[in-house]
Amino acid sequence: MINRRNFIIRTAALVSAVQFPALSLARTSATEFELIAGPARKKLFRPDAEASDVWAYNSEVPGPEIRVNKGDRIRVRFTNNLEEPTSVHWHGIRIDNAMDGVSGLTQEPVQPGASFLYDFEAPDAGTYWYHAHNKSWNEVGRGLYGPLIIDEPEKPFDDLHDITLVIDDWRLRQPGVLDTESFGSLMDWSHGGRLGNWITVNGEPAPAMVLKRGEAYRLRLINAANSRVFEIDPNRFDAKVLAYDGQALPEPINLGYAPAMLGPAQRMDLLVVPRESFVLEEVSSNDPLVMAEFKVEGDAAAAPATPPLAINAIPEPDIANAQRVKVVMEGGAMGGFVEITYQGKKLQREDVQSTRQTWAFNGVANLASDPQFVAERGQTIILETVNRTAWVHAMHVHGHHFRVISRSGSEVDEGEPWRDTFLIGPEQTTNIAFVADNPGKWLYHCHMLEHAAAGMTTWFTVA
Ligand code: C2O
Ligand code: CU
Repeated sequence: MINRRNFIIRTAALVSAVQFPALSLARTSATEFELIAGPARKKLFRPDAEASDVWAYNSEVPGPEIRVNKGDRIRVRFTNNLEEPTSVHWHGIRIDNAMDGVSGLTQEPVQPGASFLYDFEAPDAGTYWYHAHNKSWNEVGRGLYGPLIIDEPEKPFDDLHDITLVIDDWRLRQPGVLDTESFGSLMDWSHGGRLGNWITVNGEPAPAMVLKRGEAYRLRLINAANSRVFEIDPNRFDAKVLAYDGQALPEPINLGYAPAMLGPAQRMDLLVVPRESFVLEEVSSNDPLVMAEFKVEGDAAAAPATPPLAINAIPEPDIANAQRVKVVMEGGAMGGFVEITYQGKKLQREDVQSTRQTWAFNGVANLASDPQFVAERGQTIILETVNRTAWVHAMHVHGHHFRVISRSGSEVDEGEPWRDTFLIGPEQTTNIAFVADNPGKWLYHCHMLEHAAAGMTTWFTVA
């Protein structure tokens, strides 16, 4: 097998690093925002390269930072200027179901030229993101995503010390423009998803920023890539982990292992008190790739007090009285023959080309008319996911946060952290638990967006 990491084009020496791009705000008032999806042009490759055709929110990739305080009611007036329908999903928010933005499940997609008002409360502080949720493999892959930051009531870091880093990988072709022809490649769908060959952070390759020596910074990492798992080693720059998927750990921790895996859609907040200049690298190959550079300047400040992050009030699962649900994942390349039912019909081998379905949960590809399970409101669910495929997946539950309670073949890190997306390796079984307290129809899917489209999507209801 090709080592996918070798496919990444290395950014040139850091001398060419651009200044750190600040993310702009979409604010029209403290909690009202305007978001417009449409085609745009953006230089993704080196500064002298051609611009690429992308799809963007407010003409920017990443889209503007949407930022409010915990508990605020957010109103986002969304307009679709694309030539295809779309909708916006607020990833990781325990949101009112009607605002979850899933085309075909929680809302009709917003047609070209039409608008939709997203109006919801943000109950939990933390690092989240928003992205298109109609043909996401195409729409997100072309640039339709942005950061969504919910501030704690007492902001522990001021704006200068609170840095959002939205990471993506792009598949570029000669001469350094987005390869749009290969969107939808069946090869990608049945293998590891669409992997890029060029990494950007906040839309720029290897951007650089200046930090002050000895001051405490919060780095909010968001993986917006369609399918790539980034491997990061916070120990290389003495960083501690503050939060996963928006949810603060009881206290900042040093990872006892390395690297940390940041799967598609996952977030990781790091606490760093820099002494020396450092780089954020992707460390999965022998020759790490620089994703962003931090130049540290000034005299050492006195050791800062780093305030703990407030913990969000997510209901604890009641394990003893849980309802158990099992989902077996099958299919994909090297998965052997699997019987797959799609839209009520058993697929034959020759149907793969026309349906593009190659993965299944419990033998069913994509959304069946009936939910995978029904939970009474307030019921604890233990969801056992068995990965019988040859691939890693990034499983996401909509509308809820869960605790990872067990994982075959490896320990559960950091005392069963809250997550909204977990990685599961080949032949691994993982149990997660959550209180199904949010009524409505919710997706459970792989966040490798090609896998989701090719069958790895199901749904459940909370009554
Ligand atoms: Cu990040 Cu179904 O979504
Ligand atoms: Cu997957």
